[in-house]
Amino acid sequence: MGWVRTFRNNQFVALNDGSTNSNLQVVVELGKYDDEFLKRITTSASLKVTGNVLESLGKGQKLEVKATEIEILGHSDPEKYPLQPKKHSLEFLREIAHLRFRTNTFGAVFRVRHSLAFAVHKFFNEKGFVYLHTPIITASDAEGAGEMFRVTTLSLDNPKRQEDGSIDFSEDFFGRSTHLTVSGQLEGELGATAFGEIYTFGPTFRAENSNTARHLAEFWMIEPEMAFYDLEDNMNLAEEFIKYIIGYAIENNREDLEFLAQRLSDEEKSLPQDKRSEMDLMQKLEFVLTNNFERLTYTDAIDILKESNHNKKKKFQYPITGWGMDLQSEHERYLVEKHFKKPVILYNYPKEIKAFYMRQNEDGKTVAAMDILAPGIGEIVGGSQREERQDKLERRMREMHIPVEDMWWYLDTRRFGTVPHAGFGLGFERMVQFVTGMNNIRDVIAFPRTPKNAEF
Ligand code: 4AD
Ligand code: MG
Repeated sequence: MGWVRTFRNNQFVALNDGSTNSNLQVVVELGKYDDEFLKRITTSASLKVTGNVLESLGKGQKLEVKATEIEILGHSDPEKYPLQPKKHSLEFLREIAHLRFRTNTFGAVFRVRHSLAFAVHKFFNEKGFVYLHTPIITASDAEGAGEMFRVTTLSLDNPKRQEDGSIDFSEDFFGRSTHLTVSGQLEGELGATAFGEIYTFGPTFRAENSNTARHLAEFWMIEPEMAFYDLEDNMNLAEEFIKYIIGYAIENNREDLEFLAQRLSDEEKSLPQDKRSEMDLMQKLEFVLTNNFERLTYTDAIDILKESNHNKKKKFQYPITGWGMDLQSEHERYLVEKHFKKPVILYNYPKEIKAFYMRQNEDGKTVAAMDILAPGIGEIVGGSQREERQDKLERRMREMHIPVEDMWWYLDTRRFGTVPHAGFGLGFERMVQFVTGMNNIRDVIAFPRTPKNAEF
């Protein structure tokens, strides 16, 4: 059983059941069916075929099914079906995201996505990590960046207000102000300080108005959190993890990856020579597996960027002003794609541009943060060693206007048997982009949520 991809010469049906891009050829006996019936075997009609599997005499397939019986389960009107057996643009396919799984490209992407998700669980399970489900609805802003979607059952027209005019959330469903989570990390830390090693893998939400090929308002994140790990242990785990899941996909999805590699090379043929990738997708993945990630401090990265010809010739949209500035994705991509030509781990960032929970270094200026930057993507992982010293953590929270009293439960881990610990977050869709070579993050999640778009 499957869906018709093409029907040639009233004789050969290319039938696809979604398990692979390789169709099964069904041979229809000439003269056995009337024209009315044959006309209804159209692209995307669903068929049940009974027959004998034989070695194929034709080119392009080893086996075929000689049909003894064909049942049309569901008709598909060829005048109305929007997916014709020809090349459609990715933009067009986004408008019919409910049907795009039926194309070769999206078939391959979503089978690879599945494998990567499976490999995530396999990796952590083999290491003895506990999979912790952290809440989706939360009252705290884990990143302190204020990019949260509100969750409420209050009436939008006339919510009850307090004397000062602000909305009275004590009347709301949870009796307080709540949002969709931006990260499961804080709850993850509660798990790590009991189980030793945990990971989360779930949806996270950010109301940042970034209309780029790397940002979603709803994305999936994997967040391991480990007691007794320092920053270097954290980097080692992240690198091992990334290599493991890429290796798993290469081993289990070779056919789909080779298809995607070909797709990408074809797409790049329309680009000028200097904009094309030096390696094809398979070579790039093998390269990442067999080479160490480059590790350097934020401070060294700023020096490299500042001294680069790119900066001197004013080719950055945001010029390198000096130590302390936040890196833009053009800077990250310069380091990865032009300077080192491999994945890069930057660490020890200025504390001003990082979250409150990161461990403060001895220099008083930097925190034990690390970001992993991937070719073609930019930041793929963000993580850090956490501030386990209660006094230092509380002081930093107050400086950054984090509501210390509301976070009593988080601070309890520092009160009762605090330990050095660390963790990171891998953006799952960015990882899928990296492995599949898809340029736009909207094409690696089934139903993308982006500013002004929540169709399907
Ligand atoms: O760097 P971020 O904001 O780090 C955290 O949320 C930490 N709590 C993680 C941790 O230490 N446990 O996000 C982590 C990763 C980014 O590196 C990026 O890959 C991805 O999540 N990410 C996004 N992916 C798609 N769309 C967005 N809007 C994203 N924002 C972050
Ligand atoms: Mg980050």
